[in-house]
Amino acid sequence: MKILITGANGMLAKSVINRIKNGNELILTDVEDLDITNENAVMKYVQEKQPEYIINCAAYTAVDKAEDVYELADKINGDGPGNLAKAAKSIDATLIHISTDYVFDGNLDVSKFYVEDDIVGPVTVYGKTKLHGEEQVKNNTDKYYIFRTAWLYGDGNNFVRTMLKLGKENKEVSVVSDQHGSPTYAEDLANIIAEAIEKQIPYGLYHSTNQGYTTWYEFTKKIFEFANIKCEIKPVTSEEFIRPAKRPKNSQLCKDKLLSQGINIPTWEDGLKRYLQVEIQQ
Ligand SMILES: NC(=O)c1ccc[n+]([C@@H]2O[C@H](COP(=O)([O-])OP(=O)(O)OC[C@H]3O[C@@H](n4cnc5c(N)ncnc54)[C@H](OP(=O)(O)O)[C@@H]3O)[C@@H](O)[C@H]2O)c1
Repeated sequence: MKILITGANGMLAKSVINRIKNGNELILTDVEDLDITNENAVMKYVQEKQPEYIINCAAYTAVDKAEDVYELADKINGDGPGNLAKAAKSIDATLIHISTDYVFDGNLDVSKFYVEDDIVGPVTVYGKTKLHGEEQVKNNTDKYYIFRTAWLYGDGNNFVRTMLKLGKENKEVSVVSDQHGSPTYAEDLANIIAEAIEKQIPYGLYHSTNQGYTTWYEFTKKIFEFANIKCEIKPVTSEEFIRPAKRPKNSQLCKDKLLSQGINIPTWEDGLKRYLQVEIQQ
């Protein structure tokens, strides 16, 4: 299969490439080759290359910085996916796009989990622009998958890497204990994407994180346990740890829709173990 990947130097893209490189013809592009905000360039490039699938791994992902650069973030996260959707439709290709739990306000009671049809209501610039991207995809093509993920880590700067470093350098770290979600290994999300293509599951929107739910505090405990790091962890509240962009208290995405398609989704603990085997060896 001929598959075009945008944002190919990003964290998720690396795992996607690794998962699908065998048996497929990949066209890898970074912003220099293909700026997804340039509508004409996207249309021309896609029509020239004629991929069967386009996997959009490009995004503006600096959640806090986005608060100050709405226009730029919206061009990349909102208009960009729209440009790709129009181009995909013009050659009857399928667009795979990645979205986020930040499309919700995060105020759902933590005993509950968000399903795909729940009412959205982003409260951050990043979330608003990512929601705009979802709408652009849906409004411009029928042949699409949108995978909403959360708490992603892999081959790039991420929470686990930061905690490994802090845990080795300090006697104590403070970690937020009132935000709930599912840490998601990029390799596992890449596998979900690949299985969706291989099994040709119905087009649409799917919640796509690792299985199980936890807090950043409990997640850190597991990181230190698995990596054998002796460091105290002090639980703190979101109010004690104010960030420019408000973090959702509830990022828990229900995966029943994806599971009903027979897609394999490992638990977050399982993903973390496999990630640490790779990360600690480096
Ligand atoms: N990381 C998370 O915790 C998380 C959580 C939920 C959802 N997501 C979503 O998952 C997806 C992948 O995230 P990630 O963490 O892998 O992102 P990432 O590592 O930040 O990679 C994004 C890539 O997009 C490229 N890019 C930026 N602007 C572009 C443009 N105009 N045209 C083409 N490429 C452009 C970036 O290039 P430069 O580096 O050169 O700018 C970078 O290589 C994104 O859609 C993100 O919103 C991530």
